[in-house]
Amino acid sequence: MKKKAYIETYGCQMNVNDTEVIFSILEGAGYERTEEMDQADLVMANTCSIRDNAEQRIWGRIEVFNQLRSRRPGLVVGIVGCMAERLKDKLLDTRKVDLVVGPDAYRSLPRLLEAIAPGSPQIDVLLSRDETYADITPVRTDKNGISAFISIMRGCNNVCSYCVVPYTRGAERSRDAHSIVREACDVYQKGYKEVTLLGQNVDSYLWKSETETVNFANLLERVAAIAPDLRVRFATSHPKDISDEVIYTMAAHPNICKHIHLPVQSGSSRMLDIMRRKYDREWYLERVAKIREVMPDCGLTTDVIAGFCSETPQDHQDTLTLMEAVGFDWAFMFAYSDRPGTLANRTMKDDVPAEEKNRRLNEIIELQNRKSLERYRAQIGRTLEVLVEGPSKRDPAMLCGRASNNMMCVFPAASRSKGSYTQVVVKDCTSATLICE
Ligand code: SAH
Ligand code: SF4
Ligand code: F3S
Repeated sequence: MKKKAYIETYGCQMNVNDTEVIFSILEGAGYERTEEMDQADLVMANTCSIRDNAEQRIWGRIEVFNQLRSRRPGLVVGIVGCMAERLKDKLLDTRKVDLVVGPDAYRSLPRLLEAIAPGSPQIDVLLSRDETYADITPVRTDKNGISAFISIMRGCNNVCSYCVVPYTRGAERSRDAHSIVREACDVYQKGYKEVTLLGQNVDSYLWKSETETVNFANLLERVAAIAPDLRVRFATSHPKDISDEVIYTMAAHPNICKHIHLPVQSGSSRMLDIMRRKYDREWYLERVAKIREVMPDCGLTTDVIAGFCSETPQDHQDTLTLMEAVGFDWAFMFAYSDRPGTLANRTMKDDVPAEEKNRRLNEIIELQNRKSLERYRAQIGRTLEVLVEGPSKRDPAMLCGRASNNMMCVFPAASRSKGSYTQVVVKDCTSATLICE
């Protein structure tokens, strides 16, 4: 009988895709996927280190896994992903886990699983310069069979001073363009209608062979050319690197969705400088202006950090005025969390008190909620093309799906089925959903 593997995934979409790669590797080692933790022979968490609270959650899950193991001796408990990379020794010292594997070492899972014995946990956290898992076909774990994630690169070469990713994921490397196009063709043939190309900074995608050089705009073009009814999305874009070529390529292809996730982090040029983002407020606003000039209906979302080292009330105001000026559809908003080993951790003081960070964060959230509602309201009366994802969560009598600009729409079921495109007219909205007919 096949052994069963259960994996919980935390963190970003890249981790979601990594879990799919891990399942594929485990299949080769005689495991099959289960969604029931209680039935598993192998229980793993694919972890995230981006903020302290992300890690705290995982420590809690490790306790739960260990309780399970005390009831079921022989159960293997593994920690993989960014936190495995960052806390390798600590995870092993506590003797609580059997397996610690970093993001570039998943190919060694079968060997490590073989080698596990009582008292001899296994570890591989080597980072790689060239691993992209290009030849591995992920075992899709999405529920709807409509939308697939495809990683196009790994790691990150930026050193934003607050960020742990370069340390947990290693250097940036781009995946073979042909293997990306092949994977997109493959999911399209399996019935998927949307692919999302993933990387920490997709705009710096660059793949070279002896005969060709492919940048991100070229790659978008190739994936868009697969089929007119295959939607193409991507994340994340970096303000310093998003080029006019990428913007014009998006505009030129109706099936490249008009949505850009463009994390700003702060509206203060002084903060952006010490965050080492390599752009300033003016540059960011210019990129937004360009995007809107070329694609007036393009959806724009962002990430914001409140209370980074030395942030003054004036810096915070600059963030609020930038958010007011741009009017994002949606934002991920965070209080700054000091991460061991980062440049900020080593050379700056985490000097905004927790209370003040949260006060600023709440102000940011309040402003964004108001802006989201404005942005969604502005859609009322418009006709949008939606890719039907399935029944709406709130009301199963309704269907839901995203518009090109990434806004979620709900509409009456009528005769439309999952995976088809339909035109809807926006009648009403909340700050996160368009209510359509
Ligand atoms: N590569 C992407 C973002 C990756 S991490 C980019 O460069 O934009 C996702 C988001 O987490 C970041 O955009 C940032 O807003 C947030 N983040 C990263 N490190 C953080 C920290 N130490 N504290 C709080 N938020 C952080
Ligand atoms: Fe982190 Fe900056 Fe890289 Fe994004 S670009 S992953 S924020 S270092
Ligand atoms: Fe978290 Fe690692 Fe992604 S730290 S956000 S899982 S790259």
